[in-house]
Amino acid sequence: MEISMSFVYFLSSVLLLPSILIMATNLTDQSALLAFKSHITTLELAENVLGGNWSTEASFCDWIGVSCSRRRQRVTALNLSFMNLQGTISPHIGNLSLLTLLDLCNNSFHGQIPETVGRLRHLRSIILQYNHLQGNIPMEMGHLLDLQMLDISHNDLGGNIPSTIFNISTLQVIDLSCNSLSNSIPMDMCLNLPRLEFFNLSSNHFTGQIPTSLCECKNLGYIDLWRNNFTGSIPRDIGCLSKLKILYLTKNRLIDTVPPSLGNLSRLEILDFRCNNLWGQIPLQLAHLSSLTYLDIAVNNLSGEIPQVIFNISSVKRIYLLQNSLSGHVPDLTGLRHPNLERLFLHSNQLSGKIPDSISNASKLTVLELSSNFFSGSVPTSLGNLRLLRTLNLARNKLTNKPDTMELQFLTSLTQCRELQNLVIESNPLMVYYRIPLEIFLLLFKSSA
Ligand SMILES: *[C@@H]1O[C@H](CO)[C@@H](O)[C@H](O)[C@H]1NC(C)=O
Ligand SMILES: *[C@@H]1O[C@H](CO)[C@@H](O)[C@H](O)[C@H]1NC(C)=O
Ligand SMILES: *[C@@H]1O[C@H](CO)[C@@H](O)[C@H](O)[C@H]1NC(C)=O
Ligand SMILES: *[C@@H]1O[C@H](CO)[C@@H](O)[C@H](O)[C@H]1NC(C)=O
Ligand SMILES: *[C@@H]1O[C@H](CO)[C@@H](O)[C@H](O)[C@H]1NC(C)=O
Ligand SMILES: *[C@@H]1O[C@H](CO)[C@@H](O)[C@H](O)[C@H]1NC(C)=O
Ligand SMILES: *[C@@H]1O[C@H](CO)[C@@H](O)[C@H](O)[C@H]1NC(C)=O
Ligand SMILES: *[C@@H]1O[C@H](CO)[C@@H](O)[C@H](O)[C@H]1NC(C)=O
Ligand SMILES: *[C@@H]1O[C@H](CO)[C@@H](O)[C@H](O)[C@H]1NC(C)=O
Ligand SMILES: *[C@@H]1O[C@H](CO)[C@@H](O)[C@H](O)[C@H]1NC(C)=O
Ligand SMILES: *[C@@H]1O[C@H](CO)[C@@H](O)[C@H](O)[C@H]1NC(C)=O
Ligand SMILES: *[C@@H]1O[C@H](CO)[C@@H](O)[C@H](O)[C@H]1NC(C)=O
Repeated sequence: MEISMSFVYFLSSVLLLPSILIMATNLTDQSALLAFKSHITTLELAENVLGGNWSTEASFCDWIGVSCSRRRQRVTALNLSFMNLQGTISPHIGNLSLLTLLDLCNNSFHGQIPETVGRLRHLRSIILQYNHLQGNIPMEMGHLLDLQMLDISHNDLGGNIPSTIFNISTLQVIDLSCNSLSNSIPMDMCLNLPRLEFFNLSSNHFTGQIPTSLCECKNLGYIDLWRNNFTGSIPRDIGCLSKLKILYLTKNRLIDTVPPSLGNLSRLEILDFRCNNLWGQIPLQLAHLSSLTYLDIAVNNLSGEIPQVIFNISSVKRIYLLQNSLSGHVPDLTGLRHPNLERLFLHSNQLSGKIPDSISNASKLTVLELSSNFFSGSVPTSLGNLRLLRTLNLARNKLTNKPDTMELQFLTSLTQCRELQNLVIESNPLMVYYRIPLEIFLLLFKSSA
């Protein structure tokens, strides 16, 4: 491009082409920048920063936030991020025809994104997050066929995503999170997005199904659909996204079972499906997620037993399975590898049987939440081995004393847990000396201390 434009210069001077061709160079850039400035209803800071600095006495290439191509002195980047600017984005911005970067993030721009940005054919990054932009995403943005990064998160944009956006095959980052966007996403969204790595639609009002064409976005590493109204099933073949590291489908209205193909995602670190209507069993295949650190399928309608192999993912740090309909025993953890497990949340299910002794092998546990289940038998004294334990909640179960004793040995053993701050054992048929209910005993103990 550099060469061909110089060639135009050359031609224009040699052949004395109409001056309009020469006009299309830096004077246009300058007037576009001045028009841009005139739409800024300056805050004090803007006055200091732009007022004194953006003056025609100096070349606009020396203005703060402006970068030019060295040879032809054309504006290639406009970066006015974090400058406390207030105002609208002038449509004249569309005249900065060689712009590759537009970064206006963390200001207070309002009004619409001018549709003239669609003329900035060399634009590679458009970064407008943390402003107050309103209206729709202009359809003309679909003309930006070199665009790699589209970040317009944290604004007040509404309407749907123009389908032309999904035709920009160079896109690597789409971040539209924290807006008021709605409607559904085209099912064939990924057919022309082979390079997409980051896709964040969190905190909007999207509806409809998760696109079934996701497999075509084979470079996806991050999918975040947190807090929308997506319905239907999780695509069955989601396990095809071999580069996926983070998957947030939290707080939607997804139904159906958890796809077993997820087990193929060997790079997946975070899997969060909390607050949906998923049912069926936890698939055994999840045990193959050898990079997983965070598993959250809480607040769904999952049933059946907790597969033993879930506790054999050595990378895992946090497991949240609370508020489902899980039943059966907590599996025996003997011999399984969970050296990094720090937090285990199993409360509000229908789990029964004894709390397994082997849980004390999870030596890094800091939080163990087992309340509101049907656990019975005595509390294992081995819990005292969990030296890092901070919270132990056993409330609302059917836990009892060791047979033929009124002593609560586990309480003695817990004195070894020096970090313990929250111990909740209310609403269990536990009795202490002379059949005084434990809660009363603890109350007496507290008031005498
Ligand atoms: C504008 O500010 C920048 C950064 O402080 C400085 O490098 C540049 O020389 C200034 N330009 C003018 C025209 O004052
Ligand atoms: C416009 O471009 C010409 C030639 O490239 C250069 O000499 C002149 O300084 C530029 N003007 C500004 C304001 O940058
Ligand atoms: C814009 O400028 C800020 C501050 O200098 C910098 O941190 C940021 O990386 C720049 N934006 C881009 C996209 O380079
Ligand atoms: C620049 O953009 C504005 C608004 O889009 C337009 O009216 C004007 O004709 C364009 N051209 C020049 C040379 O300023
Ligand atoms: C941008 O602004 C928002 C809100 O004012 C703030 O929360 C966020 O941390 C800022 N971003 C950065 C990178 O400082
Ligand atoms: C996407 O691009 C193709 C060809 O490049 C074109 O035929 C199609 O109409 C475009 N679709 C949208 C929604 O812009
Ligand atoms: C998606 O955007 C939200 C809001 O900006 C942010 O909190 C979240 O971390 C992002 N997701 C990913 C995977 O980066
Ligand atoms: C989802 O839909 C319900 C009912 O239509 C609505 O009340 C709720 O605000 C929507 N949630 C989001 C995040 O759009
Ligand atoms: C992924 O997982 C499914 C079900 O577990 C399996 O049938 C399939 O062969 C796996 N491989 C790929 C590449 O999807
Ligand atoms: C929970 O799942 C069961 C099937 O396992 C289904 O019959 C029931 O309707 C579901 N409940 C809700 C609230 O979705
Ligand atoms: C636990 O994982 C180890 C290593 O990945 C494996 O050798 C072992 O068979 C697994 N145990 C069970 C019960 O799946
Ligand atoms: C802890 O793990 C070791 C090795 O896997 C095993 O020998 C031991 O019995 C386990 N302890 C408990 C209390 O399960």
